[in-house]
Parts: sequence; structure tokens; C-alpha cells
Amino acid sequence: MSATRTQPPSAGATMVFSALLEARTGQQLAANRTWRLDTALQPLLLELDLPCADALVAKLLDGHDPRIGDRIVDVLLNQETSFFRDAGVIEGAVQAVRGAVPAAARPRIWSAACATGQEPLSLAMLFAEDGGPAPDILATDVSASAMARARTGSYSQFEIQRGLPIRRLMQWFESDGSHWFASKALLSSISYRRHNLATDPVPGRFDLILCRNVLFYLSAPARQTVLERLAQALKPGGLLLLGAGETVIGQSELLRPSVTHRGFYERVEIDVAPRVQRG
Ligand SMILES: C[S@@+](CC[C@H](N)C(=O)[O-])C[C@H]1O[C@@H](n2cnc3c(N)ncnc32)[C@H](O)[C@@H]1O
Repeated sequence: MSATRTQPPSAGATMVFSALLEARTGQQLAANRTWRLDTALQPLLLELDLPCADALVAKLLDGHDPRIGDRIVDVLLNQETSFFRDAGVIEGAVQAVRGAVPAAARPRIWSAACATGQEPLSLAMLFAEDGGPAPDILATDVSASAMARARTGSYSQFEIQRGLPIRRLMQWFESDGSHWFASKALLSSISYRRHNLATDPVPGRFDLILCRNVLFYLSAPARQTVLERLAQALKPGGLLLLGAGETVIGQSELLRPSVTHRGFYERVEIDVAPRVQRG
């Protein structure tokens, strides 16, 4: 067997992969990105010892392995992330939440679509360093493999070098010589759960939700559904943070830019007070 499978997916196979990805995640495989399919599928083809992407479709459709759909979706998802991604923005998020939540209360945070967990750990470090009550952070992603990785709290040297300052590395991580492990103190403020933003009910109500760099992969209807769910999951006064370049404007009537916290979104509170009849 050669080390790469050179025959690209046929048009029919590409349609099956696109439909699977959209059904499972709400993501659309843009026509101009289908070239990525070939590269993304290579490791799975090699592992399963399949000659080409069309053989993978045949394996998916024969229904013998119930995990195969998940595994295909996993390799098609972009799980790009890093520690302290847009550092100024997440530092601002921690300050905003501390300002909004009563001093003695544990802030409830949802790090949605968090990939391999660098974002919730960055939040946990920032909250721990500012000394208030430890936050209660829920970290979720649709990808089973990303969640399994995130739960371990373990990162390669390459992943560590992407955004984690040396001072924080020394304070919060230990090394076994090849990998770095987040401290138990950090991990104890985070719970991890697999969750699909497009189809699962909201996992609670939160003071702060981060949902960054995922909306732009979703189809317009899926994006609208997700924004509705995020609005539902905000406590009154809660704040939503999206990725740079993502917005709710023109996409949802339930959310609007926060009046008091620049760069955040808040729920539109519907005025249900009875109107006073005049005259
Ligand atoms: C580009 S990464 C962004 C990670 C992190 N939020 C950040 O900004 O660094 C996008 C993540 O969204 C996840 N994702 C895609 N569709 C999703 C869905 N429907 N529900 C939950 N997570 C999803 C992917 O598995 C991936 O881990």
C-alpha cells in the first residue's frame, strides 16, 4: 500500500461527505474548500487501510461501524485554537464578568465549541489570577475526539508555544518531558461535555458565553438557530463573546451589541410590562 491515497473523492462521495457534515454540525463545506476534503481524509484512509475516499463512503453506507460517521466528521472539522487567543478580548471578558456578577458568587461560564480546551484553560488561569471566587466553566464541543483531548489537559510543546506565556506555563503546568499537563487546580473549575450547538438543548444559563470562530462555518439557518440558543442560555445581564469578524447584526433579533461592554453581545430583553392606557 502506498503512503497516500492519491485518487480524490468523486463528485458523489464529496456530496455524501458534505451532507454528513451539515447534518451532524450545521456546517457547510463551501464549494471552494472541497479540496480540503482530500487532505483531511488522508490519515483516516491510512488508518482504516482504505484505498480511496469513495471506499470510505462505501464503508459509511454499509452501516457496520456505527462510529465511522463521527470519525469522518471529526477529521473534517477545523479545530484550530490556541491559548489566550485574542488575549485582550478574553482578559476584557473576565473583567466584565467580575464587574457584573455579585462579588461572592461563582461566575458561570460556557466555553462553547472550545476544540481541544485551550480557551477554557485560559479563562481558568485569568480568573484564578484575579483572586475572586473560582468560576464554574462548562467547556463543550461537538467533536468527541476534541473533548477527549481537552479532558486530559495535556498539550504538546508546539501547542504550549502558541500563546501560553512562560510565566503561566511555570505556574500552572507540569511536564513529563514530552507533554505539559494543566494543574488539577485549573482543571477542577472546568467540566467537559460533548455538545452540538446546532441540535442539542442549551446546557444551562450563564453569565458569560464564548462562542468564537465557529459561526462562520455554519449555514445561514444553522447560524440563526445557534444564535437563538445562545440568547436562551444567557442569564439576564449575561454577555456573549463571538470571534473577531463574527457578529449577530443582521442574524438575530434576540441579541444586540452590549450597551456597556464594547465587543460583547447581550440578550434583547422583551418588555412584558402591561402598557398603561392613557386618556
Ligand atoms: C476553529 S475551532 C474554534 C475553537 C475556539 N472556539 C477558538 O476560537 O479558538 C471551531 C470548533 O467548533 C467546533 N464545532 C463545529 N461545529 C460545531 C457544532 N455544531 N457544535 C459544537 N461545536 C462545533 C469544531 O469541532 C471546532 O472544535
